[in-house]
Amino acid sequence: MELSAWIEALLPKEFLQKVFRLLPNPAFEQRMRWDLFKRPDYAYGVYRAALTAQALDIKKISAIEFGVAAGNGLLALEEVAREVSRHTGLDVDTYGFDTGTGMPPPIDYRDNPYLWQAGFFQMDGKALVSRLTQSKLILGEFTQTIPGFVKEYNPAPIGFISFDADYYSSTVSAFELLKEDHAYFLPRVLCYFDDIIGGDWELHSPYTGELLAIDEFNQQNRHMKIAKINGMRQKRVVPNWWHELMYAHHRFDHPLYNKHVFPDKNWQLKLGEEVPKN
Ligand SMILES: C[S@@+](CC[C@H](N)C(=O)[O-])C[C@H]1O[C@@H](n2cnc3c(N)ncnc32)[C@H](O)[C@@H]1O
Repeated sequence: MELSAWIEALLPKEFLQKVFRLLPNPAFEQRMRWDLFKRPDYAYGVYRAALTAQALDIKKISAIEFGVAAGNGLLALEEVAREVSRHTGLDVDTYGFDTGTGMPPPIDYRDNPYLWQAGFFQMDGKALVSRLTQSKLILGEFTQTIPGFVKEYNPAPIGFISFDADYYSSTVSAFELLKEDHAYFLPRVLCYFDDIIGGDWELHSPYTGELLAIDEFNQQNRHMKIAKINGMRQKRVVPNWWHELMYAHHRFDHPLYNKHVFPDKNWQLKLGEEVPKN
C-alpha cells in the first residue's frame, strides 16, 4: 500500500479534510474527493454531469439554480462550472432563476409558511450582476420565466439543477422546465434539493414543501422520475449532510438513456478477486 493510502486508512477522514483545506492549491481531483469546494454538492453535481456528457459525446452542458436570493449559490455554481470546464475541457453554462424581489406569498400550508414568508431573501440585482462572470440571471416568477426559457436561450443539455426555492408551489413551477424536449437535457440530470432537512425549526415531510412536489411529480409522470441517489453517503469519503440532498432526475424515454456510459467497456470479474467499492 502507498504511503498516502496508509495515511488515509489510519487517520480520521474529517481530520484529513481539515488538513487538505489548508493546502494552498489542491489539485482538482483532491478538491472533489475531499469536498474542498465552497459548495461540494454543486461541485459533485456539475462534475458528474460533465462526465456523463463526455461519455455521451456531448461538448457543452448547462447548470441551473432555481432560487438565487443574494447570489452566493450562483457565484459558487459559476466557480464550479469554471473548474469543471478547466478540468474536463467541456463548456458549462450557468443560469439562475429568481423573482429578484424575494419570496412570493405562500399559497397555503404546503409552502410551509411557518418557516418562510413573502419578501424573504431579496436580491441586490446590481451588486450580483457586477460579480457574475458568465451566468444568465433570469428574473421574474418561475411561472412567467420558465415557459419561454428554452426558446429564448436554447440552452445546452441541462445536466445539473439546484432546487432552492423553498416552497412546494415554487418547486412545482420549477418542475415545469422538465416537461421540455429531451434535447435540452442529459438523460439523467443531477439534482440538489436544499429544503428537505434544514435546522430544528424545519420539520420536513413528504406532505409539504419540496418533498411533496417530488412525490407528486413522480405520481404524475410514468416515464420521468426524480429519485434520491441511493447510498450517496457511502460513495463519499467524508460523511456530510449534503449527501441526503442529492437526487437524480431520470428521463427513461430520452434517446440516450440506455447508452452505455460506464467507463469499463468490457466489465469482467475474476474468480477470487473482490471488486473495490470506492
Ligand atoms: C433560500 S433563497 C435561495 C438561496 C440561494 N440558492 C443560495 O444558495 O444562496 C430562495 C429564493 O427563491 C426565490 N423564489 C421562490 N419562489 C419563487 C418563484 N415562484 N419564482 C421565482 N423565484 C422564487 C426567492 O426569491 C428566493 O430568493
